[in-house]
Amino acid sequence: MIYKKTFGTPERFVPTAFAPEPKAEIALMPDEIAEKIAFSAGKRGVKLTLALEGDTAVYGFGLQMKEINHRGNKITLRCNADPSSRTGDSHAPVPFFVTDKGWGMYVDTARNAVFYCGSELNRGLKAADFEEYAESEFVDNTRDLYADKTRENAALTIEVPLAEGVDVYYFTGESILDIVSQYNMLGGGGCLPPDWGLGNFYRCCGRFNEDEVLEMAKSIRDQRIPCDMLGLEPGWQTRVYSCSYVWSEKFPHHKELLQKLTDMGYKVNLWEHFFVHPTAPVFDALLPFSADYYVWHGLVPDLSIQEAQDIYASHQRTLVEEGVYGFKVDECDGSDFTGGWSYPDCAVFPSGMDGEQFHHLAGMLGAQTLLKAMGERETYSEIRAMGALCSSYPFVLYSDLYDFDDYLRAVINSGFSGLLWSPEVRQCSSKSDLVRRIQLVAFSAQSLVNAWNYDHQPWLDFEAANEVREMFEMRMRLVPYIRKAFIRYKEKGVPPVRSLVCDYENARHIEDEFIFGDMIVAPIRPEENEREVWLPEGEWVMLFDKKEYAGGTFNISTDKIPVFYRKGKEPETAEVTQFLPF
Ligand code: GAL
Repeated sequence: MIYKKTFGTPERFVPTAFAPEPKAEIALMPDEIAEKIAFSAGKRGVKLTLALEGDTAVYGFGLQMKEINHRGNKITLRCNADPSSRTGDSHAPVPFFVTDKGWGMYVDTARNAVFYCGSELNRGLKAADFEEYAESEFVDNTRDLYADKTRENAALTIEVPLAEGVDVYYFTGESILDIVSQYNMLGGGGCLPPDWGLGNFYRCCGRFNEDEVLEMAKSIRDQRIPCDMLGLEPGWQTRVYSCSYVWSEKFPHHKELLQKLTDMGYKVNLWEHFFVHPTAPVFDALLPFSADYYVWHGLVPDLSIQEAQDIYASHQRTLVEEGVYGFKVDECDGSDFTGGWSYPDCAVFPSGMDGEQFHHLAGMLGAQTLLKAMGERETYSEIRAMGALCSSYPFVLYSDLYDFDDYLRAVINSGFSGLLWSPEVRQCSSKSDLVRRIQLVAFSAQSLVNAWNYDHQPWLDFEAANEVREMFEMRMRLVPYIRKAFIRYKEKGVPPVRSLVCDYENARHIEDEFIFGDMIVAPIRPEENEREVWLPEGEWVMLFDKKEYAGGTFNISTDKIPVFYRKGKEPETAEVTQFLPF
């Protein structure tokens, strides 16, 4: 069930003001739930307090790369392109969390909200404990304090800066998966990409001209590496930071190029961002709809205004009509932490929104704008920022960071918050690094090699074409299976890629395996050849060698990626040739 209650007077610029229609029933919050939430508002903004009982685990908050269970942490949801700690910074911060005690909560805000996940003790919540504690004998609990982040009678305290009120959505459900699915339905359900989007994606070097792009496309076909999306990086435009959205002199025959690539079975995707260069055809029209700051001397259009969306989309539409099937929307994730690469939180937008709110909404508004440009044509695109209630947008997140464990945690965490994430493969330090990363990306929301800074295919450095081909063939064969998982995402909100705890209550201790469709994936790290695997009760079959395993914990040693399906539930596959003109 989803219960809603309005506390105080909410702000105007919040995710629900822009999000798609919910596909879920929302009931008024009954008193017995509302009484659990203490609300006050003052100069600091809104404060909400709830009890966090026992060892309650707290999952979610968007694309978090450093931690899975946030219990005991202080999470400040800030948009940051280079999140480096467990403090809540994220490409895609989301004010939604789910507990393992049958409830979750979405706080409808586009502010840098703070969630103290049980790190504090609130006197109002359980006064009796104070006495109990005072009467207890002296114990030196220093060691416990360092060892354990959970505390009895802890409070979950939420601060929403500047706001005078906020809408709270409280979820109850039988499982974490049930609650996460309801959250996704609140955002309109999951997206369903076209089949070609479920295959493999290669982004070409940003320095390439049209002949070099074509050569790369041919070379991928010659090596019979299954690939159905080809991305062009900054160099396709005359101006890139900020963007002109006009084909550069390196692409004098771009229409012919697009046709040739389409004939070869590729769907072309163009890199860009929203910061509009003075030479862009839409610059003058967007000027009155832009913020009071420039980024890279370009405009920051206020895409919360429909007219601004339409103007921006009208030009992108000409690119779509020329034969483009998607976009990579870069730099929209608040790179002001990177060194002046964005607008400040105090920026003023013509709609009345400020920079802080726009940082949180830029992903959603950007996705909406580009979907307008796509018109009837389906897409499966990329974006570097997202936010709350974004599950219905066919846009996948990526990052410039590159730590393998961070990327794996992002695979696991994205599924708690209606987000899709690609642990893209770029440069690699060894054959093992390349192969292990390719294995992981092939079992993620988007199988992507991003060679934007590489004039050759990364696998050529290590003679690893065979390994890449094998993985990408598997990905392509699994398209019917992945499609089914996405249909479930669209219709029921079940994330296609998710944490084990979503489906298995007793998997809380497993933080390096995940569910893909219904299979369990236990990736092996670069430079390693074995690992411990935990599988739920039952009989399981390893996808690659068909060996059988019983549920429980065991060691596995393999140069493949351990992926298991339940015995008797072999995934549906298709021939690669069904999708590619080989
Ligand atoms: C980065 C992006 C990279 C690449 C590069 C091109 O911001 O994350 O994937 O596109 O820009 O300049």
